Amino acid sequence: MRRVTILGATGSIGRSARDVILSNPGRFAIEAVVGGRDAAALAAMARQLGARFAALADPAALPALREHLAGSGIACGAGESAVHDAVDRPCDVVVAGISGVAGLKPTVAALKPGRRIALANKETLVCAGAFFMAEARRIGAIILPLDSEHNAVSQALAGRSLADVTRITLTASGGPFRSWSKPEIDSATCEQALKHPNYAMGAKITIDSASLMNKGLELIEAHHIFGIGPDRLGAVIHPQQIVHGLVSFSDGSVIAGMALPNMRVPFADCLSDGRRLVSGVAPANLASIGTMTFDEPDLARFPSLGLALAAMAAGGAACAILNAANEVAVAAFLGGRLRFGEMANVVAMTCDVVAKHCQDAPSSVDEALEIDHITRSAAQDVLACRGHGSA
Ligand SMILES: NC(=O)c1ccc[n+]([C@@H]2O[C@H](COP(=O)([O-])OP(=O)(O)OC[C@H]3O[C@@H](n4cnc5c(N)ncnc54)[C@H](OP(=O)(O)O)[C@@H]3O)[C@@H](O)[C@H]2O)c1
Repeated sequence: MRRVTILGATGSIGRSARDVILSNPGRFAIEAVVGGRDAAALAAMARQLGARFAALADPAALPALREHLAGSGIACGAGESAVHDAVDRPCDVVVAGISGVAGLKPTVAALKPGRRIALANKETLVCAGAFFMAEARRIGAIILPLDSEHNAVSQALAGRSLADVTRITLTASGGPFRSWSKPEIDSATCEQALKHPNYAMGAKITIDSASLMNKGLELIEAHHIFGIGPDRLGAVIHPQQIVHGLVSFSDGSVIAGMALPNMRVPFADCLSDGRRLVSGVAPANLASIGTMTFDEPDLARFPSLGLALAAMAAGGAACAILNAANEVAVAAFLGGRLRFGEMANVVAMTCDVVAKHCQDAPSSVDEALEIDHITRSAAQDVLACRGHGSA
């Protein structure tokens, strides 16, 4: 029995984790589940999975959590220290599925000798990738990529030497605006942007997928996870999302990681102990899929991807700044305060302003959060200057 703790248990990643765990009875015991503020959803998840401990980040939600767990025998807590307690409890695997930079601190705290971290929270790598990977190596924790693209690449690499790798390519669906004109994309509504063609995910990552910022964040993730330079990383648009990642080798071989687009597949890989688990997803039937297409991303229509590539090339604090500016811009779009096409402008302006003051890559969680804090405030100023201040 492997003991698993799930951070972000009430979200889309948490639900995929639950589905794979319940499809493999007798293989897993759930130590703790952690959520943000939704007491009813966390209590339901804790009961369904038979967790020993449930923690919410929001301290005000404790009475509701206690009420929803009454009679279950499941211990619970709320607030930062309760989240820390959950992460500290002994377990073999931690699923890091909190959304946004809020996931940074708990994910770093989850690093323990020999522990496996199934990493979905990409912001940890985008904001503090060099620090996080060095900490994982120092402590002896094992980082397993849960993003479908990185998981596919890691399966294709299968421990082969990076010296033989000429390129790692991540695929992107192209999102709901793949074939739209620039003016159409610029004025897209929230409802249109939240319609991902292949995955049901949280709102933030779905908007990032529509702008292709998500692919940029994933390339930054790949840079840190695989320890490969930006010159050997790229993305292609592949609307069918059967191929998730490709590794090209110096002898001309290209190995593709393929699966139907369903997060249970990378989950089953991350949670396995060598033998394949039941994911509930059939292998892709290529004859029934018929056609697979691949295109270069169009940076003119999707400028957010260009901003992420520039931040990755700049290094230092640039990616942490990009991430915070983008979180503010996406929240403003979701809150109806910004047009879709304006998000990239707000991110670009904020990055220009903050890059003058913050240059060095963060070497601790506190430094990463400090850059995040400075950038959020600068991004709010940019929004206010453009007449889109807080509601
Ligand atoms: N969804 C996918 O298929 C997918 C694929 C690859 C990577 N990812 C990455 O995985 C992460 C989660 O994505 P998602 O789509 O699952 O997001 P989501 O559906 O919005 O879920 C977010 C989860 O984080 C919790 N949370 C929010 N703030 C928190 C805080 N301060 N402390 C503790 N928990 C907090 C939420 O709890 P409440 O519900 O209580 O607020 C919820 O459980 C993101 O970094 C995303 O980029 C997701």
